[in-house]
Amino acid sequence: MREIEKINHTGEVPVMEPQRQFYFMDLAKQYVTQISKKKGRPLTFHVTTFGCQMNARDSEKLCGILETVGFEETDSEEADFVIYNTCTVRENANNKVYGRLGYLSGFKKKNKDMMIALCGCMMQEPEVVEKLKQSYRFVDLVFGTHNIFKFAELLVRCFEEQKMVIDIWDDTKEIVEELPVERKYSFKSGVNIMFGCNNFCSYCIVPYVRGRERSRKPQDIIREIEKLVADGVVEVMLLGQNVNSYGKNLDTPVTFAQLLQEVEKIDGLERIRFMTSHPKDLSDELIEVMRDSKKISRHLHLPLQSGSTRILKAMNRKYTKESYLALVDRIRKEIPDMAITTDIIVGFPGETSADVDETIDVINRVKYDNAFTFIYSKRTGTPAAAMENQVPEEQVKKDFDRLLKVVQDTARERVARLEGQTLEALVEEVNEQDASLLTGRLSNNTIVHFKGDPGLIGKIVPVYLKECHGFYYLGEQPLKVMQKSGFYEKVGEENFCAHIDDAIKRAEQYCEAE
Ligand code: SAH
Ligand code: SF4
Ligand code: F3S
Repeated sequence: MREIEKINHTGEVPVMEPQRQFYFMDLAKQYVTQISKKKGRPLTFHVTTFGCQMNARDSEKLCGILETVGFEETDSEEADFVIYNTCTVRENANNKVYGRLGYLSGFKKKNKDMMIALCGCMMQEPEVVEKLKQSYRFVDLVFGTHNIFKFAELLVRCFEEQKMVIDIWDDTKEIVEELPVERKYSFKSGVNIMFGCNNFCSYCIVPYVRGRERSRKPQDIIREIEKLVADGVVEVMLLGQNVNSYGKNLDTPVTFAQLLQEVEKIDGLERIRFMTSHPKDLSDELIEVMRDSKKISRHLHLPLQSGSTRILKAMNRKYTKESYLALVDRIRKEIPDMAITTDIIVGFPGETSADVDETIDVINRVKYDNAFTFIYSKRTGTPAAAMENQVPEEQVKKDFDRLLKVVQDTARERVARLEGQTLEALVEEVNEQDASLLTGRLSNNTIVHFKGDPGLIGKIVPVYLKECHGFYYLGEQPLKVMQKSGFYEKVGEENFCAHIDDAIKRAEQYCEAE
């Protein structure tokens, strides 16, 4: 048990947000200082994130609060405060969390002051919370997706109550702005434009755990991006489960295409990404805005799920194989260099091998730059879970493997089409496997590794795409551009790749075009 002196709350607790949370951040800070003094060292925290970009962004908000109250981030889960931000979209995401909790309890035995918290989508499922109450008593704090903005307040309760604190809401209409955020990357950031989902695809648990669709006001989004840009961000990823229905429920309705046009005007912002686009709501207005934009990246994630119209109907996706293909044609006609990626589910109830053939046919026609393929996972409470004709595992495996092969073959061919070109990449990090390489991302989301100075991280630089290796490129920095920037003199000739002649030729073309 933590031995702490209870701090007297002074003054009124504010009712309004976010002031209320700032009040609790002050209080939490006093507890952190007290414990840290006792231990004679700073307190550490670790946030582990499962699931999608929304969760990644939520984790940055958790980090922002933990740093504000005085914790220091550490790479290890052997920390004073560990929080798992969970996902429940598929069963295996769930199982991973239980597995790792056992391992965390080992750390807690060594450090009795350690606090373990769980939040995110999985916590919105009553049977999960029940299981935690029964079998994982060492967990200190459990909260869900709707009250994440109350994290500071819950943290204070944890310090004070010395028992498992559980706070789960069924839904919320509230969107709290202006809380602290600690970004993972200094130069790029996710930006929530909406929360929740109203689509109820029959296999999907997200609408149940994330609640109804709510859009943020355009002015709040713009203000947030302006601040991010002032703080060094050059690329934003606008986040929503279905960005194409953004703004429909605002007091003054706005379309997603209109929002994009406003974001485009922000000086200093170089690249705009977004996800996810539901095919049923992708408008011609949006295609035009993307076509005419200088900042919107040449990448569209357009989840197909299935290429069989019969299965799409059972999935409640509200488009057909034909209308999806027609949409892709319209996009490719207006924006030929647009990379398209997708999500596919294999093994939805009632799916036959003939249905999978239809999906494969779509893959062959569209030729995706990448496709995330998932084996259908039964989620309790969704309509598909109650369907009787669940597909036997053996058949699913066979269908999955042959579909995956087509995805890989078509994607390899599609990604390779850029070989020999020089394109701009946002340099993101030093390569994890080979520290002499930098890793950058093209506008179309393809990764390129190339030799370069880590000082380029966060900058957009031209890169010659030398060799395609499946889903990524090995590239080189064009010589002239490096000379212009003084980089060539700095690193010396020996640091250039062997294929420099080619690079020079391409670099000259690039510089002339400039
Ligand atoms: N809002 C996004 C998807 C969010 S979930 C959209 O509509 O595209 C991300 C992906 O997980 C989905 O696109 C789907 O392919 C997959 N998925 C969702 N529920 C699933 C389930 N029960 N089993 C397997 N895959 C699932
Ligand atoms: Fe799930 Fe469908 Fe909503 Fe995407 S649009 S989150 S797949 S219900
Ligand atoms: Fe998972 Fe929740 Fe995202 S269920 S995919 S983390 S919205």
